[in-house]
Amino acid sequence: MLLQQVTAQAAGRINLIGEHTDYNKGFVLPAAIDKRSIATIKRNGTTSTCRFIAQNLKESYEFDLSNFNPVDDGWRNYVMGVVHELQALGGNLAGFDCSFEGNVPIGGGMSSSAALECSIAFALNKLFALEFDEWQIIRAAQAAEHNFVGIKCGIMDQFASVKGKENHAMLLDCESLDFQYFPIDLGNYQLLLLNTNVSHSLASSEYNTRRAACEEGVQLLQKIYPTTKSLRDITIQQLTQAKEKLPPLIFKRCNHVILENDRVQLATKALQDGDFTKLGKLIYQSHFSLQHDYEVSCPELDFLVQQTFDKSFILGSRMMGGGFGGCTINIIDKEQTDDFITQTQALYQTTFGLDLTPYLVSIEDGAKVLDVR
Ligand code: GLA
Repeated sequence: MLLQQVTAQAAGRINLIGEHTDYNKGFVLPAAIDKRSIATIKRNGTTSTCRFIAQNLKESYEFDLSNFNPVDDGWRNYVMGVVHELQALGGNLAGFDCSFEGNVPIGGGMSSSAALECSIAFALNKLFALEFDEWQIIRAAQAAEHNFVGIKCGIMDQFASVKGKENHAMLLDCESLDFQYFPIDLGNYQLLLLNTNVSHSLASSEYNTRRAACEEGVQLLQKIYPTTKSLRDITIQQLTQAKEKLPPLIFKRCNHVILENDRVQLATKALQDGDFTKLGKLIYQSHFSLQHDYEVSCPELDFLVQQTFDKSFILGSRMMGGGFGGCTINIIDKEQTDDFITQTQALYQTTFGLDLTPYLVSIEDGAKVLDVR
């Protein structure tokens, strides 16, 4: 029977540790959260007219399946990008109407874009019986971002958005794409996100610049270590030995990536061992590295991390996601959380004149089809 309408969801994500490692073929430790995008798509009887309604923004957009191109910016490129990539994979689509909404904060570093892309890809896949597997959907959503949005992102966000599992973090090897689920049980502690409510315009251009710096690092390191394919293949000892042969900025970028990969492995072990103090220390180290070596933090994020230094009830704090705004992720004692939030909101308001939004996230399943008619 030909389906007429499908509703699908995909999740936003957190990342415990492993930032800017995914496109360097390294390791990440993300999880899907209880914030998601939900897309309802129905056939509209035309051969090629696509209509999208962004419910949250009260905006709409229409294009023809046979001829569409990226526009200036905004959500339109995400949705057109997904359609384009599914067609590029050989997906045979017909005209449809799509309405989507979500509660992943935009610009919050929780991957609202991956959630949007994956919810639409999931719904189209089911409605038109495309039969693509989850990895094809994950890659198509990533490619949409590369080719239509212009951000050369890694695979972490789309992976977490689709593959997330309730109460579990996922250790993903971004080279082999092997992954493992690990239960997240933090005992008396919980995960608190603090949204700076800033999203500096540098985010997209600097993201691609960082990626290019890592690629330059790989090229230079290949001259010394010919079997190198990515920064994943280089140890910190090898990098240190090559220091004189690398421009200082490239060295710093590589230093972050290589040490961050090590931290992900150590953090996964700490999570398994229930050693939250150790996990917290690694999370702080990740922040300092992102702040000083990778230089993708910003004053608002640094301020929030700094507020936690003298609080023994917070085990770790760091910026999360691509950087230049968005959230910090904190491991905090459950009992102290309310007071800390109130205090920090007041300080943040005084210092930056901005609201600070807290989120106590729970770890949920990733993408799924919710309804079929
Ligand atoms: C963004 C990208 C991801 C990843 C992170 C940084 O969220 O979409 O692929 O690179 O930044 O870790």
